[in-house]
Amino acid sequence: MQQWLKYFEQNRDHRLPVPWERGLKVEAHLREPLIRSLQKFQIGESGDGRNLRRHAAETGDAVYARTIELFVKEENEHARLMAEILQRLDAPLLTGDWTDNCFKLMRHLFGLREELFVLLLPEMIAKRYFRALRDGTGDPILRAVCEQIVRDEEGHVAFHVEYLRRVFEHLSFSQRIAIQVAWRIAFRATCLVVMFDHRDVLRACGVKPGDFWHGCGRVFDETAAGIFSPANVLAPARLAMEANG
Ligand SMILES: [Fe+2]
Ligand SMILES: [Fe+2]
Repeated sequence: MQQWLKYFEQNRDHRLPVPWERGLKVEAHLREPLIRSLQKFQIGESGDGRNLRRHAAETGDAVYARTIELFVKEENEHARLMAEILQRLDAPLLTGDWTDNCFKLMRHLFGLREELFVLLLPEMIAKRYFRALRDGTGDPILRAVCEQIVRDEEGHVAFHVEYLRRVFEHLSFSQRIAIQVAWRIAFRATCLVVMFDHRDVLRACGVKPGDFWHGCGRVFDETAAGIFSPANVLAPARLAMEANG
């Protein structure tokens, strides 16, 4: 965990430059779907993480608790970046969204492990979504923001994978399979909701539904393997740390 604390501190201090001074010039066909989509992601990342921070503090591991604080701050930084983009598009920020409310409710129902599993559902999808946005626009500001978020999300997923791998390493084979099956069903249900809710922006970025579905599936497979397959131990974590120097 000490390494992860260092990772988040370094990541906080070394951000990609965003050329705000160039002025946002998003493609006309992308503008409206981008606004509706980004508004939802923005509100999803703007929470204070109170429940998660409390659970992390209850583990008694001060380093983990501090790292979770930095993780929440990094999500809030994503919300700030998206708010900056929305402001430049003359679009208001949402004050509530039903998908965000569902995730909050689910996360608050259980303990730390369950909360991390629920939290990882949109995190895994975000890795594919922000890549689609980055590749679907020529605007340097939007591309830089998306590139930073994609990099950060790699780290987020790897960080939670490492924690959950340790928590679940003593489970039997059948228990691992049962959890993975339930988690995959929840993940695929979330994919369907996101694909429907954000279908216009994905189309505007030239992403076919089948490609998004398979791309998200690959992220899930890597993530689940990192948690439940000893052979993949630390691979995602190492990659994220190395990418960050
Ligand atoms: Fe994020
Ligand atoms: Fe994240």
